[in-house]
Amino acid sequence: MKLGVPKETYPRERRVAIVPAVLPALKKLGIDIVVERGAGEEAGFPDSTFGDQVTFADRAEVFQADILAQVRAPGANPVNGAADISLMRSGQVIIGFAEPLTTPDVARAVADRGAILLAMELVPRITRAQSMDALSSMATIAGYKAVLLAAEALPRMFPMLNTAAGTVAAARVFIIGAGVAGLQAIATARRLGARVEAYDVRPAVKEQIQSLGARFVEMPIEAGDAQDAGGYAKAQDESFYRRQREMMLKTVTSSDVVISTAAIPGKRAPILITEEMVKAMPPGSVIVDLAAATGGNCELTVADDAVVRHGVTIMGPTNLPATVPYHASQMYARNVTTLVQHLVRREKGADGKPTGPPQLVIDPADEITKEILVTNGGDVVHPRLREAVRA
Ligand SMILES: NC(=O)c1ccc[n+]([C@@H]2O[C@H](COP(=O)([O-])OP(=O)(O)OC[C@H]3O[C@@H](n4cnc5c(N)ncnc54)[C@H](O)[C@@H]3O)[C@@H](O)[C@H]2O)c1
Repeated sequence: MKLGVPKETYPRERRVAIVPAVLPALKKLGIDIVVERGAGEEAGFPDSTFGDQVTFADRAEVFQADILAQVRAPGANPVNGAADISLMRSGQVIIGFAEPLTTPDVARAVADRGAILLAMELVPRITRAQSMDALSSMATIAGYKAVLLAAEALPRMFPMLNTAAGTVAAARVFIIGAGVAGLQAIATARRLGARVEAYDVRPAVKEQIQSLGARFVEMPIEAGDAQDAGGYAKAQDESFYRRQREMMLKTVTSSDVVISTAAIPGKRAPILITEEMVKAMPPGSVIVDLAAATGGNCELTVADDAVVRHGVTIMGPTNLPATVPYHASQMYARNVTTLVQHLVRREKGADGKPTGPPQLVIDPADEITKEILVTNGGDVVHPRLREAVRA
């Protein structure tokens, strides 16, 4: 059984799906790894770091493998992904971020090739799948990097300093949304010495915010049913968001940095920072809008750009993990490898050592596989996606 690792082709994507550290785990499953030449180069893993544990090949040959590990499968690579679809073959398993819910046509094209697409963003958030949860790994990196971007752009320092030249007040940082990225942003801003406040629509996170040394901003608005069974925020109605904007006005306009991460899976991000609020922020303030990929939490955000409006720098990065490619690749590779370990079985002898060849088991009834299985047997099979295709 072969696992192929193509070079990523999305513009400015510097991650790679497999790094040398996970090779022993894959080898133990009886899998041979074939890597496209230079695939790990930009992530800090040149070909030489893979040693003789892998073979190198050109892209077309890598696409012959039984399993393909990608960071961005075609749905998540709108610019160059289409060319890869014609290289796919029947029965081949493709693992990667695929944005299947917003790119049903791509899923259809992959299904037509007979390939089995497993979307990493659909890994269920259950304890058993925790080490396959690439969304959390990447959100951790995005939260960390967002703070660094803000610190770099802010004309102030983060820590409070008492110096012979006078006292420097600590920067005030407000984090909206304390999921995985938000909590990492809080921790990073605290490490840099900022005064941090945070708010989330899910009251369950109040204690986590406080345990990181930040203040939870109380808002006397009831977020009816704030959280679904998976721990995700549910969308609220517009009157809730209007009230939330009113309540947040004071905190936003007295902050030097606002990092917003408020997202609703599968929906447009709610607008929580209006132009009026931006106008009232101190000059030189910075907003890093991590919800930019789904429309942004700030009315003025431009995806993948930094704009200055009313003296405030507003950044809308959509692919921060690619800017920390070494650790992003390391974490992602671990997530993918755990998934492969879940899918590949080997018979064991009496001594417990694997004897038979590796076998790929795509069981649509398995609680993890069924959630991530987008295409199988020539069809788009994911229920949520089938609904999207019908709608
Ligand atoms: N394996 C697991 O069990 C596991 C793994 C990861 C996450 N989770 C759960 O999922 C939660 C959210 O994960 P995520 O970070 O991927 O979420 P996300 O990226 O979808 O959203 C980011 C945050 O924004 C918040 N938010 C949404 N609307 C808001 C609003 N109007 N105002 C303020 N905040 C708002 C959400 O509650 C969430 O905390 C986690 O905190 C956790 O409870 C579970």
